[in-house]
Amino acid sequence: MTGKPVRITRQDGIALIEVDNPPVNALSQAVRAGLVDAANEMAVDPEIVGGVLHCGGRTFIAGADINEFGKPPMVPFLPDVIAAFESCGKPTVAAIHGTALGGGLEMALGCSWRVMAPTAQVGLPEVTLGIIPGAGGTQRLPRLIGIIAALEIIASGRRMKASEAVETGVADAVVDGDLVEGAVAFLRERIAAGEKPLPLSARAVPAEDAEAIENAANKIRARARGQLSPAKAVESVLNAAAMPFADAMAIERAAFLELLGTDQAKALRHVFFGERRVAKVPGQQDVVGHTVSRVGVVGAGTMGSGIAVAAVEAGFDVTVVETSEDAAARGRERIEGIFDGLVKRGRLGTDGKAERMARIAVEVGHEALGDADMVIEAVFEDMAVKKELVVALDRVVKPGTVIATNTSYLDINEIARVSAHPENICGMHFFSPANVMKLLEVVGGEATSDDTLLTALVVGRKMKKVAVVAGVCDGFIGNRIWAAWRRQAEFLLEDGALPQDIDAAITAFGFPMGPFAVYDLSGLDIAWAQRKRLAPTRDPRARYVGVPDTLCEAGRLGRKSGAGWYDYSSGKAAPDRIVTSLIEAARAEKGIAPRNFTAEEIQARMRATMVNEGAKILEEGIAMRTLDVDMVMIHGYGYPAWRGGPMFEADLVGLPSILAEVEEMCAAGGFGWKPAPLLVELATSGKSFTDWSKERG
Ligand code: 3HC
Repeated sequence: MTGKPVRITRQDGIALIEVDNPPVNALSQAVRAGLVDAANEMAVDPEIVGGVLHCGGRTFIAGADINEFGKPPMVPFLPDVIAAFESCGKPTVAAIHGTALGGGLEMALGCSWRVMAPTAQVGLPEVTLGIIPGAGGTQRLPRLIGIIAALEIIASGRRMKASEAVETGVADAVVDGDLVEGAVAFLRERIAAGEKPLPLSARAVPAEDAEAIENAANKIRARARGQLSPAKAVESVLNAAAMPFADAMAIERAAFLELLGTDQAKALRHVFFGERRVAKVPGQQDVVGHTVSRVGVVGAGTMGSGIAVAAVEAGFDVTVVETSEDAAARGRERIEGIFDGLVKRGRLGTDGKAERMARIAVEVGHEALGDADMVIEAVFEDMAVKKELVVALDRVVKPGTVIATNTSYLDINEIARVSAHPENICGMHFFSPANVMKLLEVVGGEATSDDTLLTALVVGRKMKKVAVVAGVCDGFIGNRIWAAWRRQAEFLLEDGALPQDIDAAITAFGFPMGPFAVYDLSGLDIAWAQRKRLAPTRDPRARYVGVPDTLCEAGRLGRKSGAGWYDYSSGKAAPDRIVTSLIEAARAEKGIAPRNFTAEEIQARMRATMVNEGAKILEEGIAMRTLDVDMVMIHGYGYPAWRGGPMFEADLVGLPSILAEVEEMCAAGGFGWKPAPLLVELATSGKSFTDWSKERG
């Protein structure tokens, strides 16, 4: 880098405009100013016949500089930079490698053409940051590819690969070989052919069926579940066909600036940076970790197969071991089935499947794990079984091999104690299906070494997981919070709400599913086993709702048995009179007079439970920072990202009112339910969870 983030060189009349602003060429004020200078130079210099906009480093411009959001906007504004490119009077090509996202794609749309490296991607992910494109994306993209296609891209925030971009007309060509050379050749050809495309701002939106547009718009509005930005994006895209470009641009910019200041946008920025900070352990920047090239997986059940697929997708070679030839054959089939599903959905080619299957060996016996650099066990969730396995692995693995136990609840310290090398043992709690779910809790026990923990984090990140460090306790971060909420949801049942009322309130809050629908999906028997395990130590004074046990005893184990909290005989979840009767009988037996709960009361109860348990987890050191709790609840349990997670949202709502909700929740819970001391301390001293996290560095 020369010091200036934008520099111009020339090649026989073509201006090569290079942006070099590591790490991702974000459009900081200095970059915007440099780009305006470049546009002006192209405009005034008669020797320049055209320009190629390209980037140094790993990617084309990845968008506006998110660090500048929340600060007063600084000139030159991006829409003016793009307008300067469009009106410079010379044809231009954007040469895209890596990802052209948000303002990066908007910048490219201000060029006459776009060419892409075969691996490059484009997208307008602004809605995922709680905003809409604010530099013409909602106006230029529909003019290029039509309203319906633009709606889909903008409202989903998804990325498009180069092949699709060319197919849809977002890009004009894929360049194999040297991208900048290819872009220059492309431009010279166009100039020689006398082509002068109208700038997108001057083009009309292609005609499309009005009803089809309305349907596409309505689908997006219906899917938003409380998030503001998708509906705003729809409104703005529709303006492209309804009014002159300049008027629609003014509305787009106003909406962009308005959304930028909303709590939803603040929350989504917290999530964006949280996802990146989560795997960085404070104070451990110098820890190196082990090099991992082969991952061993013990057990080829649903979880083990998912882990094996995630590992091979991340580029590792994988050895899966089972106990018999039969089990190994079933495991291989299961793994192949996951890849077949990906092929069927167009996510993977048959060559890709073959390449991946060639990197997975499914063997019988632990001896096959002798060359693994890390072993992840996914055997039956039982302490004795896991301990026996760890002892067996000690005998076959190389010295220093990291052994990760995929447990949801069990005490990793107890498991590690049977090993000759407890420092090599940690937890890796995957969520099912392990090749799909983004969350991974990496659990450090009392003996786990820093190297081991970092190795697990790095492997998790390579698997594209949001890998969060957790300490040892029953349920770690996520399941512990979820268990507290599930108990409170059961209290709500006994006190007057029905499963369908609670689920409706929670989905209205923004969760994809309510707790009882989740219960049915994952199977009631898992929590039943957990309750039985804890029964001997449960204090008889604790409030206990027996309805879930009654359901399990009646064989109603959830979807898999055709009935649980709901009846599934029609193929869909239907509220069930039998369940209502069971709940009513339980209330009568305890002499509870049922009362009505509003959706707001149910939502407040849920949030209070999660915040209170989260605060306990923080003060006990089970989670390091509030962002760790938030990432777990968003990526593993469906807490709406646009609310930022329970701890972030608690700060926004204000801790004194959250404490009031918590006190009510604790009163409903009775014995054993108390506000977390940390919450009380912060609420009464006028501080926030964010302040607390900052003070701890
Ligand atoms: N602004 C500021 N910093 C950014 C940034 C951005 N747009 N995008 C990424 N970064 C930072 C990250 O925080 C990270 O910082 P760190 O090293 O200190 O943790 C660093 O750049 C590298 O990012 P990743 O770890 O995410 O790197 P990857 O290689 O995995 O991914 C990427 C690269 C695909 C570009 C990914 O970073 C990404 O998706 N970035 C965000 C893109 C985006 O949302 N753009 C739209 C912005 S809004 C906009 O443009 C508004 C416009 O319409 C006006």
